Amino acid sequence: MRIDIITVLPEILESPLSHSIIKRAQTKGLVDIHLHHLREYTTDKHRTVDDYAFGPDAGMVMKIEPIFKVIRKLKSERDYDEVIYTSPDGQRLTQQVANGLSIKGNIIILCGHYKGIDHRVREHLITREISIGDYVLSGGELAAAIIVDSVVRLVPGVLSNETSALTDSFQDNLLAPPVYTRPAEFNGWKVPEVLTSGNFKAIEKWQMEQALERTKRLRPELLEGLEEDG
Ligand code: ADE
Repeated sequence: MRIDIITVLPEILESPLSHSIIKRAQTKGLVDIHLHHLREYTTDKHRTVDDYAFGPDAGMVMKIEPIFKVIRKLKSERDYDEVIYTSPDGQRLTQQVANGLSIKGNIIILCGHYKGIDHRVREHLITREISIGDYVLSGGELAAAIIVDSVVRLVPGVLSNETSALTDSFQDNLLAPPVYTRPAEFNGWKVPEVLTSGNFKAIEKWQMEQALERTKRLRPELLEGLEEDG
């Protein structure tokens, strides 16, 4: 899978993309992530990426030309399955949305900034808008990092069997059951006996009961199928 991220602040993305599972996915050659600095696609000496909005509301808006240029260049090199814009207006990122994106070949993510981008970009170049939640961030870089993290860990081969994404919370609309490690007793606080029993059938049953109980108590809407699908 290849992910091209277009941003005016590549520094924000460098750290989240170069550690842990995301780093390993790239080292293993399973995912190829490229950052594109939007200012490099400007022609004026100030490398201007934004301008005043038309109309009485004088906020700044990201200009169409540099965005058009970088997307045109990328599309001339390969086909893309999605050109995503990070925006609070977009479809909410869920595990289902991440699952859907993890089986794509090539995607572009455009990080929004300022008051927004020239709407013609959204009308003509963007295929999908994704929000990471109902709150407004200063820019789309953190949203892009979250989208990439949630997607890359699902790409086949990225996670080992023990950490398989199949047991993640939300994967089957259930929260994950509690986990414990040694010591089996600390400070008088004991690990549930069944987990140290060696009875795998009983452990599996306990885990399913816990997942159901936690979901019912903490996120009942997941069981009612109220979450939108990807
Ligand atoms: N940009 C600003 N706020 C955002 C959000 N909630 N999700 C995605 N992109 C954003």
